[in-house]
Amino acid sequence: MCGIVAYVGNKNVWPLLVEGLKRLEYRGYDSAGLAVVTPGGLKIARTVGRVSVLEAHVEQAAAGAYDAHLGIAHTRWATHGPPTEANAHPHTGKTKSGHTIALVHNGIIENYATLKKYLTEKGHVFTSQTDTEVLAKLTAELYDGDLERAVQAALREVTGAYAIAVVCDNEPHTLVCARKGSPLIVGIAEKSYIVASDASAIVSHTTQVITLDDYQVVKLCAGPNDRLATGDAAGGPWAVEFKTTTIDNVRVTRDVQELEFDLQQIELGGYRHFMLKEIMEQPESIRNCLRGRIDLRESRVVLGGLGKYTRELVRASRFLLVGQGTAFHAARIGEYLMEDLAKIPARAEYASEFRYRNPIIEDGTVAVAVSQSGETADTLAALREAKERGALAVGAVNVVGSSIARETDAGVYLHVGPEIGVASTKAFVGQVAVLTLLALYIGKRRYLSDDVIRNYLAHLERLPEHVANVLKQSNHIRECVERHVHRENWLFLGRGYNYPVALEGALKLKEISYIHAEGMPAAEMKHGPIALIDEGMPVVFVAPQGSQYDKVMSNIEEVRARGGKVIAVATEGDTKIHKYADAVFTVPDVPEALQPLVTVIPLQLVAYHAAVLRGHDVDKPRNLAKSVTVE
Ligand code: G6P
Repeated sequence: MCGIVAYVGNKNVWPLLVEGLKRLEYRGYDSAGLAVVTPGGLKIARTVGRVSVLEAHVEQAAAGAYDAHLGIAHTRWATHGPPTEANAHPHTGKTKSGHTIALVHNGIIENYATLKKYLTEKGHVFTSQTDTEVLAKLTAELYDGDLERAVQAALREVTGAYAIAVVCDNEPHTLVCARKGSPLIVGIAEKSYIVASDASAIVSHTTQVITLDDYQVVKLCAGPNDRLATGDAAGGPWAVEFKTTTIDNVRVTRDVQELEFDLQQIELGGYRHFMLKEIMEQPESIRNCLRGRIDLRESRVVLGGLGKYTRELVRASRFLLVGQGTAFHAARIGEYLMEDLAKIPARAEYASEFRYRNPIIEDGTVAVAVSQSGETADTLAALREAKERGALAVGAVNVVGSSIARETDAGVYLHVGPEIGVASTKAFVGQVAVLTLLALYIGKRRYLSDDVIRNYLAHLERLPEHVANVLKQSNHIRECVERHVHRENWLFLGRGYNYPVALEGALKLKEISYIHAEGMPAAEMKHGPIALIDEGMPVVFVAPQGSQYDKVMSNIEEVRARGGKVIAVATEGDTKIHKYADAVFTVPDVPEALQPLVTVIPLQLVAYHAAVLRGHDVDKPRNLAKSVTVE
């Protein structure tokens, strides 16, 4: 998704902007750009492709051409208009006084067409197809010598979502930023401010941050004391100050917070790709997720974030789980868990569908938003919709302090650490683990006996070890994938708890290897997709021992009879399945409700190896964004 980095301070700005953009690369983008306010005026560079192209462009410019103390930068993921230089940010507008405003934006301006018409009538000439250019020109139109006021006024006119950073060549020490619905964090460093849409671009500079709420604007000033445009800046020749307001120019106070983020955690640490690192570190991330939450002696789950809402959760009439992408697949598993373990009717839905279908929320509904980033626009909107209609809002979120986390009544953080790989892996396992804990937490207070709970908890405690054992098969999985990686169509089949796992396996493969894959309930294959099966087609069965094992075995025979190549995920010690499958990846024997936590692991490795074997950039898959903060 689009990324923003902006800086005002005593250092030369463009190397910092480029470094920040590089840290955001993992989020996915297709063009990049920056604008700096130099003593000679505004300098803009925009390029299609990687940040390194932008960097080379700036480096090749005349020495010092981009040297400045104030600048904004952006990586764009095309929505309105293709990825071209003209559509890349920053976008600009000319003020009536002849000054230039430059702006970068994440989000979407929904009423851009009306505004564009108005601005065109006012004489502004548009050079891009983006909605962002409208906001730049509107700010310029409303500028009368005070950038903060112009930004506030412009934002009062727009509907949609935004995180923006704005500069004007008339105010060389002032950076104005604002947000509504898209994340933006302000880092407070020594003699400078660094702003970014994602903490990973800030942590190397500072851990002191302020976050903005929706409709809030921050004015950040840094410069030689006597030249600061506003206020009574104090302390030394280089002073800094910030001011937060709403878009209606009401002063608000924001507390400085300590960012909980460890740069070490996001470095590659010897792995070739972030995705592989995140797959391989799952024993550790699961341990972190479960830490302090399992009390085996008392046979109970400890979830501090649910606090005073335990009663509502236990008495809930219905669970509604919403998410997108991988998080939606975790939500589907949550649906099974809630009904099976907590004995409460549950339904998982794409957040994007739920929010627009005029849903009925009966009394006692608990809405659970499942999200790694906590910023997915549809998931956030669905949560708000459910809340407005009376549901209790609960989060299963990874990023601490994210929008979804802040808007829920209660929640359970995943605590799996930052996930950089665009294809979600450890966050999925974290989401499923948290939903399992939630179901057990409620189940204990409803029908589950202590013995049953203890059995689940004992297995959960051993989960890191179980996962570590599955991961040891990475080479074996790679060898198997090598035999099939040339095939363009794959099927993933499973039943019960392993049906959503099949969906997730197919999604992973599609995302990074660009192989067409479909996941479905194994029984559904007979109702159409079986027509696709021909000699050599890889069909992955998630087939551990359990209540549906025999049924899955008959589906396996149907595939074999048609020449399909069976790849099976099976329980350790299952000798029978080896007779039917081209390859078998084993998982430990765990209760059915816990199977997704282990059966998904080989599928993550299948996708990873397929992508590498096909020569793709695993951490930067084409067209994909880590976090989709627009609809
Ligand atoms: C994007 C990502 C997926 C992710 C989905 C939901 O599509 O590429 O990997 O599953 O968004 O993201 P969330 O942050 O809400 O879990």
